[in-house]
Amino acid sequence: MILALETSCDDTCAAVVSAEGEIASNVIASQGLLHARYGGVVPEIASRHHLELVDAVTADALERAGARLDDIDTVAVTRGPGLIGALLVGVSSAKALAATRQLPLVPVDHLHGHVVASTLGPDPVAAPYLSLVASGGHTFLARVDHPSGYSILGQTLDDAAGEAFDKGARLLGLGYPGGPAIDRLAREGDPAAFDFPRSAPGELDFSFSGLKTSLLYVIRDLGAEAESRAADLAASYQRAIVDALVERTRAGLEREGLERLAIGGGVAANSELRAAVEGLDAEVWVPPVELCTDNAAMIAGAARFLEPVEYPGYLGLDAVARL
Ligand code: KG4
Ligand code: ZN
Repeated sequence: MILALETSCDDTCAAVVSAEGEIASNVIASQGLLHARYGGVVPEIASRHHLELVDAVTADALERAGARLDDIDTVAVTRGPGLIGALLVGVSSAKALAATRQLPLVPVDHLHGHVVASTLGPDPVAAPYLSLVASGGHTFLARVDHPSGYSILGQTLDDAAGEAFDKGARLLGLGYPGGPAIDRLAREGDPAAFDFPRSAPGELDFSFSGLKTSLLYVIRDLGAEAESRAADLAASYQRAIVDALVERTRAGLEREGLERLAIGGGVAANSELRAAVEGLDAEVWVPPVELCTDNAAMIAGAARFLEPVEYPGYLGLDAVARL
């Protein structure tokens, strides 16, 4: 059994997962509401709350799995990328948990976790496959030939897709986090009402900053009318983001000759994207929402395919903000 911790951003997460990828527990303590009043994640507040929550969340993950620390064979933890203060809480806790029992520790790249989220559960995706990861901090397409790694084929040159959702929501006065708010409002709007640009910076690369600027101008031009058109604006804006993601994914599948696709990252929780990828010419894995947004099960998922560091080799292990 693997016990994994994930504290790279604003969710305190712990999970217990078997070597075969069966999820025994996956606990997520979201700090979302704490940060909402500031319109985004405040790193200092995130670190302090991770400190307060990490022990309880770990105990909860063990209890829900019906396990004790004695049942754990390996500890895994997100090493980066992310907020350095937030990451340090998870890394220190994981080192302490592992060291007291002299267990091996696996440091995991957060993005690798998103890439392999669909290898968990009863119907795991098999390599080779194309992975689309779209989150608040990252948006990329990767080729996976073996789940122990991935090679990036294309990525965003400016904002991440989740950032585009969050910034768009702020312009529409919808609050933070913006993705779920736009997702909800878009259901009542017409996605063809406004024609937002779909920029194509490279065959498999993304760019979302122009889209956000164009939303700003449209809202400004609408003036007082913008409020009554909010649902149409949300629907059209969301359609532009989803189109960009789906078109590059289609191109990636074709170029790489891949027949399987797995999506991940917080934006993979988006209802329109989840429906749109089903229309691609591939077998598609769309994980449950709790495996798309940040979670520790995906970190354990990646750890299954990596070489653990034996005690005491990891005592000097450090978190890294950028990999
Ligand atoms: O993967 P994640 O939980 O954290 C990062 O590693 O960034 O992704 C968070 C991002 C936020 O930008 C949030 O607005 C977006 O995922 N998101 C969504 C939805 N749910 C979360 N975006 C679009 N539609 C959603 N339903
Ligand atoms: Zn993430």
